[in-house]
Amino acid sequence: MHDPLHILIASEDPAARLLVSDALRCHYPDADIQDAHSCAEAAALSLSQSFDCVFLDNTLPDGTALICLQELRAAGKSAPIIVLTNQGEEALAQQALEAGAMDYVPKSDLSPTVLAHCLRSALRDSRSQAQVRQAYKALELRDRAIAAASNGIVIADPNQPDCPIIHCNPAFTTITGYAPEEALGRNCRFLQGAETDGEYVQQVRDCLQQETDCQVVLKNFRKDGTLFWNQLTISPVRDHQGHVTHFIGVQTDITQRRLAEDALHRSRTRQQALLRDLFASVTEGKLILCGTPDDLPPVLDRFTDPVPLSQAGGVRELRQHTLRACVAARIPEARRFDMETAVGEAAMNAVVHARTGTGHVFTHQRGTVQVHVTDAGKGIAVENLPNATLRRGYSSAGTFGHGFKMILQTVDRVFLLTGASGTTVVIEQDREAPSPHWPHPSLA
Ligand SMILES: Cc1cc2nc3c(=O)[nH]c(=O)nc-3n(C[C@H](O)[C@H](O)[C@H](O)COP(=O)(O)O)c2cc1C
Repeated sequence: MHDPLHILIASEDPAARLLVSDALRCHYPDADIQDAHSCAEAAALSLSQSFDCVFLDNTLPDGTALICLQELRAAGKSAPIIVLTNQGEEALAQQALEAGAMDYVPKSDLSPTVLAHCLRSALRDSRSQAQVRQAYKALELRDRAIAAASNGIVIADPNQPDCPIIHCNPAFTTITGYAPEEALGRNCRFLQGAETDGEYVQQVRDCLQQETDCQVVLKNFRKDGTLFWNQLTISPVRDHQGHVTHFIGVQTDITQRRLAEDALHRSRTRQQALLRDLFASVTEGKLILCGTPDDLPPVLDRFTDPVPLSQAGGVRELRQHTLRACVAARIPEARRFDMETAVGEAAMNAVVHARTGTGHVFTHQRGTVQVHVTDAGKGIAVENLPNATLRRGYSSAGTFGHGFKMILQTVDRVFLLTGASGTTVVIEQDREAPSPHWPHPSLA
């Protein structure tokens, strides 16, 4: 059910008012029809109420329909307006149309059919105009949002050769230094340089080809040649049929963040190197702190299958394999038992601190036994490393706890890789005790 129409008829001529309202009621019997006798009265009523349509007589006591129309529009009233004209007033009516009136009807033609037709088309046109206005407002809002964004935004057209930029916002210019007229019509790859990582560019290429979203961080170059780190997000825009009509790219300059991360990484690496030297120094080269898996020693020849370690077992089995490997490598008895005890300690540490782990025994024909004990616990924080590795009997959650110092005293070399994703200890014992020297060859 529709709400009844609200109509305002502004005319000082009672006959004209009656004629219009009677004619309208023939087609719209429920219509709420109100009268105004002057331009001022029409304006006042329009301010206090909302009308679906206003009929304005061209000659009102205080002004023409054009003046009245301008007053209503100035007050923000957008109801469609139909002007009622007297004979010879076509020019005036034309002016009203140019100022925004929907239609005009000569008073001599005021029949129910003509009025109903006028009203219907005025309502329909006014609705479509409102829709256009709304869509335009939404577009305007979107344009303002794009213009105000602090991220670079570009729109590229994949239906033109080489997918050129067809729009870029002011932030794109701020980030890259390229004015719109220097960027429009070009493919965005002009931001790349010899140092841009081809692997990530390939990712972009693949995503564009597959018409999927993509996020990468690329080295790009500003107009003045300086490098910036571009965190780039590209999304396809599809029409109602699902065809990609455009791609939108959002560029975030993360150079400052990236530089800070690089500085932090460099400082961590320096700290790691410092600790590595320190540990090697105080343990006469026996403890080698590893920063990455690449720092671990080369894996020797496999002696047994991996041994799972848990509270249910595994530690004894690993000790036994170690002992057998030591016998096979003809390691002297006392040094065999030292190795076995050290491996037992390392395996127990994994079980106590990470609940589970894995032990793996390797040998080398030159007479070396190598045992890897790995766990997926939370590792040892850098600040705990000195206590965890060098203090006798030191134990707290997240450290190696007891026995690590003893391990260092009984075997030839211990490699330690520890981090948030777990810990690997590699213990090595040679047939003969190495002559005391430092730094260890692997550090030299
Ligand atoms: C909307 C859009 C924005 C893009 N923005 C950038 C950008 O900021 N920096 C960049 O290096 N590449 C950008 N690209 C990627 C390049 O235009 C190009 O697609 C990429 O280099 C891989 O294609 P190619 O092999 O033709 O060079 C963008 C691509 C699109 C579609």
